[in-house]
Amino acid sequence: NKNIVVAIDGYSSCGKSTLAKALAKKLHFIYVDSGAMYRAVALYFLRNSIDVHNHEQIAEALKNIHLNFHSRDYQTHITLNGEEVSDEIRLMPVSEKVSEVSAIREVRKEMVKQQQRMGDSKNIVMDGRDIGTTVFPNASLKIFMTADPKVRAERRYKEIFDKNPDITLEEVFENIAHRDYQDTTREESPLVRAEDAIILDNTNLTPEQQLEFALEKIKPFM
Ligand code: C5P
Repeated sequence: NKNIVVAIDGYSSCGKSTLAKALAKKLHFIYVDSGAMYRAVALYFLRNSIDVHNHEQIAEALKNIHLNFHSRDYQTHITLNGEEVSDEIRLMPVSEKVSEVSAIREVRKEMVKQQQRMGDSKNIVMDGRDIGTTVFPNASLKIFMTADPKVRAERRYKEIFDKNPDITLEEVFENIAHRDYQDTTREESPLVRAEDAIILDNTNLTPEQQLEFALEKIKPFM
């Protein structure tokens, strides 16, 4: 009686978390936003001026970072050492730092360990960049999401405008392009489609259509 794991990977701002949340809600699975974990680590690095080239500092930092999800209403609520940081991790300083921090081998090792623990006995939907390739290579269902970069930037811009009223569409587009570049070219588990992942290009799909697609694919495992 094995638990069911759904892995959703893809480029930045492809709607991974929107689909993952909707799917988890529908199936009564746990939703885990792995990107929020890397973002919280990046926030800690920023606040404590951790040098990303100093392995001693990194090891020490990782010992002092305690992340916790409290999954209310399928939104991401994450705490960093007890402090709610769910909003702060979405702001530009973190978005600009996170891909540098997530490329660090020791950081990935620790996050992957924690992520695997979350999925070892419960039904979960986890979204990220390396979930189907590294965290859960044996996931029941793997979806690899993609969409036109311009459409992605526009969606993200709308989503974060309220909290970042000074931001421009160009800045959002640049950040997405830059993170995609860093995430796909890094040495340590780069963003790549798992061979057995189903591609979902959602450029012209509504969230409802994407959910329908995923529900159809998960059926054989339920
Ligand atoms: O998913 P989100 O865009 O919030 O992720 C922020 C960043 O965290 C990504 O750009 C990537 O650098 C990193 N990340 C990762 N592996 C994951 C999830 C996120 O490297 N599984």
